[in-house]
Amino acid sequence: MSAVVGLLLVGAGLISMPWWLPPLVVRLRMRVFTALNGPEGLSVPGNIGIDRFEELYASPASNGRSRGAALSDLFWYWLAPGPELHQEHLEPGPRYDQVASATRRILAIPKHAAEGLATQATSRVLAEAKIETPTCVRLRDLMMPIWAEFYHTLVFGQPPTAEARALIVGNADDVVTALKCLSLRHMERRAGLTRYLEAQIANGQVTHTLPAGLSDAEKALYLQGVFFNTAIVQSSEAMAHVLLALAEHPVELARLVVALDDDRAIDRVVTETFRLYPLFGIAHRITSSAIPGKAGEPVIPAGTVLCFDYPAYHGSGYTSPERFDPERWKKLSVRDSNYIPFGVPENRSCPAQAMALITMRSVTREILRGFSLASSALHTRSLSNRGPCLLVPRGPASNGEAGKARRRLSLVWLRMRDRWEDVGRSLIQLVLGTYMVLDARRLGLCRSYFAHQEPPRAPPPACPFIGT
Ligand code: HEM
Repeated sequence: MSAVVGLLLVGAGLISMPWWLPPLVVRLRMRVFTALNGPEGLSVPGNIGIDRFEELYASPASNGRSRGAALSDLFWYWLAPGPELHQEHLEPGPRYDQVASATRRILAIPKHAAEGLATQATSRVLAEAKIETPTCVRLRDLMMPIWAEFYHTLVFGQPPTAEARALIVGNADDVVTALKCLSLRHMERRAGLTRYLEAQIANGQVTHTLPAGLSDAEKALYLQGVFFNTAIVQSSEAMAHVLLALAEHPVELARLVVALDDDRAIDRVVTETFRLYPLFGIAHRITSSAIPGKAGEPVIPAGTVLCFDYPAYHGSGYTSPERFDPERWKKLSVRDSNYIPFGVPENRSCPAQAMALITMRSVTREILRGFSLASSALHTRSLSNRGPCLLVPRGPASNGEAGKARRRLSLVWLRMRDRWEDVGRSLIQLVLGTYMVLDARRLGLCRSYFAHQEPPRAPPPACPFIGT
């Protein structure tokens, strides 16, 4: 009898594994990361109240980007090659100014030109994909070639060849998959894109003036970091979140489909998606001078690593913050809400905010004109499942009873597959994540770069908030 009960319990444990194992592994992974990385960083909000979030982020003292934070070794590891030239990770100074102004120049194209390019890139990629019957896709994978086409055309004035597009997608996919600890880095794959960019520069194919102080090899790494890594990864993840959110909310989807010509209707969906699924989990800054305490709080010393927690900030100050509710933006304004998906303007916010919002509208329109969407997959901020979604071409065939029944069955299958895949993913993340944190620490890319640049600094004084 007891053997039967034991067997039943083991069976129930195994069958319910997708519901209890992944969260357990995520918690364990966080513990391993913290233990390996050390208790670095003052979390805001967390160690300090939400009311100081924007003030601390916007403070001129919060201007250190990489130097002095162990976390930077990990980011540099994931972003290589060329993390020391990536705009996001450059310390303030003349090199940063040159790079930032080149990025602004490249992004400065008229709105209608950006819309046209984004629409053409989407229709080209969709036509190639030949989705003529309901098909399950991974939204992030579907989006990557679209953005590869778009940003290649922006930088070089013409769409990429099939080979160049494969290099761009291969590079971006490798970076984001390693970042999510689902695979190790493949540096040779990334080097293929570097060689392509070097050749493009050598052949005078760049239609913009690149940062003057950089060598050609450095210019290639700058382009790779900003336009063929960050731009592709961020735009693909952002669009995958928007489409997955719509696929999981049929009412919101139906409301948007009849209002596709209305920019404000699309913007509400995009805004709510970014609120619930900000692409950044944390952004960190290293303080260059002390920041005075408020209301009797202690001073935050120079050299403190401030970790700004986007999801926590976006989750506070809203009614039912966990609900996907684009309609809330009919009454709220982004300016007066806890809402900073592109960072804070006073402290190096995203230079592509306007471009991203304009082009995401065009891509959303183009997709929804051709397809209906449905999904039963997990939707998490990290999007480690790459957004499984059923794409149903619009037309009479998809509206019949038989079509609807098939769709329901597909969604049941998609849910089961996604939950079981999640078990495997979380175990892979635990093992590869631990390995990469250790490897990043061993290589110390950021630490050794600054060790060669300037004499070592004295360690910062202890921060009175850390450990509270
Ligand atoms: C699609 C949605 C995007 C979102 C939500 C987003 C979000 C962000 C955020 C939050 C930051 C500031 C992080 C911080 O304070 O440390 C940032 C910075 C940055 N982003 Fe974006 N980004 C997006 C797209 C892009 C694209 C398309 C590009 C390139 C074309 C880009 C290039 C950059 C760069 C270069 C920085 C660093 C700015 C600096 O330090 O001067 N981003 N982004």
